[in-house]
Amino acid sequence: MTKYQAHKIAVAPMMEWTDPYCRAFHRVLTRHALLYTEMVASAAVVHGDRQRLLGFRDLEHPVACQLGGSDPRQLAEAARIVEDFGYDEVNLNVGCPSDRVQSGRFGACLMREPDLVAESVAAMKAVVRIPVTVKCRIGVDDQDPEVALDALADAVAAVKVDGLWVHARKAWLKGLSPKENRDIPPLDYDRVHRLKQRFPDLFIGINGGIGSLDEASAQMSHVDGVMLGRAAYHDPWLLAGVDSRFHGAVDPVESRAEAVARFRSFLIERLQDGARANQLLRHVLGLYHGVPGARAWRRRLTVDAVRPGAGVEVLDAALAEIDQLGLDNSLGLGQLELAGAGGR
Ligand SMILES: Cc1cc2nc3c(=O)[nH]c(=O)nc-3n(C[C@H](O)[C@H](O)[C@H](O)COP(=O)(O)O)c2cc1C
Repeated sequence: MTKYQAHKIAVAPMMEWTDPYCRAFHRVLTRHALLYTEMVASAAVVHGDRQRLLGFRDLEHPVACQLGGSDPRQLAEAARIVEDFGYDEVNLNVGCPSDRVQSGRFGACLMREPDLVAESVAAMKAVVRIPVTVKCRIGVDDQDPEVALDALADAVAAVKVDGLWVHARKAWLKGLSPKENRDIPPLDYDRVHRLKQRFPDLFIGINGGIGSLDEASAQMSHVDGVMLGRAAYHDPWLLAGVDSRFHGAVDPVESRAEAVARFRSFLIERLQDGARANQLLRHVLGLYHGVPGARAWRRRLTVDAVRPGAGVEVLDAALAEIDQLGLDNSLGLGQLELAGAGGR
């Protein structure tokens, strides 16, 4: 197995969600989970504003960049640029079902073109040293997942892909919206487990509907890695247990308030750079998910963060709502900068 094996938990690529601010927040919670970018079109990487599309901060490592495209030469060029930017991995999207993506002949419709995917992976691998991985579905439309997933995996394994992340459901390209395509086609974890049995030496990671670290642990007896998407975004505190549970390391924060304190420093710096508070604070809305006070926390952040000139005081006010309930560790606001202790 390649060094890629190290990435047991990944946070999925999610357009409009997993931007650099989101990744910075997730990195407060886990040092070891692999963080994915949003998908970036290879044409945009080659011809567009690279710094805007690919720029990231060192604190985000390990971080993987996902590309969308189907022109092997352009993908190779984009992969080289991604590597030059310092990413730890480049991933090819073979799972996104949106119309926009289909008309560009990339994303999930490539499940029908395993040879082209393999040609693309080979072209990328020829020019970079970082791992090249693929994220795919188990099939599209009327494809038989037994045949379609094996065909894709065989093709990319033949060109020595470094890992395959499988969203364990089909995409139905006609009639369902991208959002529906994340929920309606049924999950089939067994299909991905069978794929792993067929490829004992290839990293196979599973994705789709995994909502807790217990579920992730259960998956680990069948596959090499687990990719968390919506659960990590909507309930990010679950990431705070990843390092101890899956990497034999100490978790970087002990309490939500400590996570807020660390992100607060980052927020202040970004505000100084000219960012708007809402651009960062929208990613922390789920931090108190399932905890009393969560609603007040979210309300403060959503309503106040969009006001013109909103700053760090919005975060402080939201935390005060939680403190008022005497929950979490009741750090006074003045102590935030020094936070480091406290129970969950
Ligand atoms: C808002 C949103 C945007 C997404 N964007 C991408 C994307 O850019 N590339 C991709 O491969 N998958 C994308 N996905 C799919 C996720 O990566 C993941 O496969 C899917 O949400 C299923 O995993 P989950 O049930 O853990 O969320 C997106 C999902 C969401 C919710």
